[in-house]
Amino acid sequence: MPTMNAIRIESFGGAEVLHLQQIPVPVPNPGEVLLKVHAASVNPVDYKIRSGKYPAVREDKLPYILGRDVCGIVEASRSSKFAVGDSLYGVPGIERGGYAQYVILKEDEAARKPKTLDDVAAASVPLAGLTAWQGLFRYGDVKVGQRVLIHAGSGGVGHFAIQFAKAKGAHVITTVSTDHVEFALRLGADQVINYKKQQFETEVSDIDMVFDLIGGKTQDNSWSVLKKGGILVSTLTAPSPEKAAQFGVRGTRFTVTETGSELAEIADLIDAGKVRPKVSDTFALKDAALAQQLIEEGHTEGKIVLTVDQV
Ligand SMILES: NC(=O)c1ccc[n+]([C@@H]2O[C@H](COP(=O)([O-])OP(=O)(O)OC[C@H]3O[C@@H](n4cnc5c(N)ncnc54)[C@H](OP(=O)(O)O)[C@@H]3O)[C@@H](O)[C@H]2O)c1
Repeated sequence: MPTMNAIRIESFGGAEVLHLQQIPVPVPNPGEVLLKVHAASVNPVDYKIRSGKYPAVREDKLPYILGRDVCGIVEASRSSKFAVGDSLYGVPGIERGGYAQYVILKEDEAARKPKTLDDVAAASVPLAGLTAWQGLFRYGDVKVGQRVLIHAGSGGVGHFAIQFAKAKGAHVITTVSTDHVEFALRLGADQVINYKKQQFETEVSDIDMVFDLIGGKTQDNSWSVLKKGGILVSTLTAPSPEKAAQFGVRGTRFTVTETGSELAEIADLIDAGKVRPKVSDTFALKDAALAQQLIEEGHTEGKIVLTVDQV
């Protein structure tokens, strides 16, 4: 039976529970492909799962391969959509991990890789890109000319959200710290608020959509900047219905879904030159623990990627 290298956890805990192991290469079922992974990116959910704090991955899922997004080449296909040799990027379902030399992708979880990106840059897109896309357009229903406030515009999700909202024709305001002001301006933000020096709630008003990627006090202070009928969309804490009613607005929390059709739309925007991922650091697969420690510090600019073909 062919084997592969993968980073697995056998128990929950700190970065020390990540182990490089030799395990069998998975076999695709109908509607699936086997992807030879070239690069896989690192997301905050990876260390949340590793620590045992993520509800969808409990002890019954151990041992567990981490990693929610990948880019690579189809090695075997049982899909009518993708053939051997296709370059894809995608989000493997939560029960399959991307920190591995091979992963199974269901055909709806993937799309053709953007032609203008190398494998490392393409691997940085799927989970954060889909989260930005779904938050803005599926839940926030952002339209041309609307005013959008994106908290944490310098992170993985935020840096895509700024670019997608601008490509849509929205007026984009974002909160970042001093080190990332220039970055946010380069991404196209119309107004950048340095949260270390300014309070966004006294700087902005009449917002159609707040995209909350921080939660806590940041979410609490966001209600007052929304215009009547506006919406607060969070990837973290479920917004309080009482607060929403008090301010005459709406609030919702969502979990991203693996959606290949939206990845194809994102690839088109990238290839049209309207969106560029930022990869701030890369690590070899065996150094996944270092990559996770870095993202856990909470100050990543753009994305961190594992170069899986270098193991
Ligand atoms: N519900 C879902 O399906 C879903 C999907 C994806 C992500 N998420 C969650 O959404 C959150 C964001 O994800 P991500 O991938 O973008 O994380 P990330 O890349 O780790 O975000 C890091 C960024 O957050 C910024 N930041 C930290 N505190 C801030 C504050 N108070 N105000 C403004 N910016 C601040 C940091 O900038 P500074 O260095 O300048 O502070 C850094 O650039 C994570 O908690 C993640 O788990 C949820």
